[in-house]
Amino acid sequence: MILKWPGGKKWLLKKVDDLIPDKINNYIEPFIGGGSFFFALAAHQTSLSASISQGTICDTNNKLIKFYRCLKKSPKKLFEESMALINQHSEEYYYEIRDEFNQDLAPHKFIYLNRTCFNGVYRENNSGAFNVPVGRRKQIAFPTKEYFLECSKSLKNFNLECCDFSEALSKAKKGDFIYLDPPYVDRTYESKTYKTFRKYNAKEFSIKDLERMVEVCNQLKGKCSILISNFSVDLVKDYFKKKDGWHFRETEKTTFISGKAKGRTKVKEAIIYNKI
Ligand SMILES: C[S@@+](CC[C@H](N)C(=O)[O-])C[C@H]1O[C@@H](n2cnc3c(N)ncnc32)[C@H](O)[C@@H]1O
Repeated sequence: MILKWPGGKKWLLKKVDDLIPDKINNYIEPFIGGGSFFFALAAHQTSLSASISQGTICDTNNKLIKFYRCLKKSPKKLFEESMALINQHSEEYYYEIRDEFNQDLAPHKFIYLNRTCFNGVYRENNSGAFNVPVGRRKQIAFPTKEYFLECSKSLKNFNLECCDFSEALSKAKKGDFIYLDPPYVDRTYESKTYKTFRKYNAKEFSIKDLERMVEVCNQLKGKCSILISNFSVDLVKDYFKKKDGWHFRETEKTTFISGKAKGRTKVKEAIIYNKI
């Protein structure tokens, strides 16, 4: 894992091995976040022969895409600059770097903050400034230089776009494999004790955005292989109906998003897919 990210999908690959096409010409992931599914797939961490070697990844978070561009182009330099910050880490230093980062958006500061902030959360205030407090862990887990180089190699033939998912999907061609992991729907209407983490950016992903995504998925389902993650709740099931060609796989998962005891609950996640 290069970054810690709320909603990370490191665990997903082994649950969907059989849903990944044998041959993938072009891969599109419009909500890349921490990219755990992408990097695992690119590094052949699957029992299948399938791998991904070209395509488009995107996110509306401009700091994240700026980080990936730098990781792709200059992994060694990025590693060294980040390590220089990690080696000076303290609470006071964290807030100093956080202030600087909100001015210059420097990629090495981005990963330093990501690895030392509270619970590995990425959250912005309404003005778009990163506002997560310092983490409490004594030991900081930081990826190796070799892993930086491996991730850079994985990104080599990928376009990295900072845009809305619809723009990335507008380029989808016949036979492409698409993985969609949008901010999940709000479960608060079902569970009064659990608030879903959704504030990745100043602008939250709304039900209207989800409806736009469903519309595009329905347009593409006849020509592309599509895999979608979300909560397994009626709201989501209503959007992806069997009669419209969508299939459901349910999986139970413990979630750690809020960092509070009440946020660590078991939730049912849905893997939604088409068959072409
Ligand atoms: C659930 S996270 C993805 C997690 C990722 N799969 C991982 O393994 O870390 C959702 C991501 O969607 C991004 N996002 C929110 N709204 C978006 C939009 N309209 N278009 C593209 N990306 C968006 C957020 O910035 C966030 O990084």
